[in-house]
Amino acid sequence: MPDDANNVGTLFGGQMISWMDLAAAKVAYRFLQGTGIDGALTRAIENVEFREPVYPGEWVNFEGFVSKAGNSSFEVVIDAYAEGLKVKKRLACTAIITMVAVKKDSNDEYVKFPHGRSL
Ligand SMILES: CC(C)(COP(=O)(O)OP(=O)(O)OC[C@H]1O[C@@H](n2cnc3c(N)ncnc32)[C@H](O)[C@@H]1OP(=O)(O)O)[C@@H](O)C(=O)NCCC(=O)NCCS
Repeated sequence: MPDDANNVGTLFGGQMISWMDLAAAKVAYRFLQGTGIDGALTRAIENVEFREPVYPGEWVNFEGFVSKAGNSSFEVVIDAYAEGLKVKKRLACTAIITMVAVKKDSNDEYVKFPHGRSL
């Protein structure tokens, strides 16, 4: 949408990163289903690469998977594909997002928590 554009008329990178973070959260919640944790927080966003511009009127689809599992953390790879009415689907942006599983402690604060998941 026009509100998502930067001053050269293509998708604003900050908007793209926000959508990628949301996509990573969805991957995270699937990964953590049934573990008893209360949520997951983004700890790091790395290797963001804007490979192709995205133009107004196009849509963006996100694909993601868990690539590494640590103790409380896990790494999510997100690929963003742009597609339009007259142009083929193309890889527009990639990122690696580290999420941390959290649980509420006795002070009502969210703290890291071992998720117990492996790949
Ligand atoms: C996420 C949070 C609860 C982690 O708690 P913490 O006590 O700082 O935890 P640690 O520093 O031990 O890091 C937790 C895990 O992340 C990993 N980690 C820390 N920094 C990292 C980085 N830059 N890149 C990749 N992994 C990292 C650690 O290795 C550890 O992994 P492990 O448990 O699998 O061994 C805390 O840092 C926090 O609340 N951060 C703010 C989160 C936030 O507001 N995000 C934006 C909104 S979603």
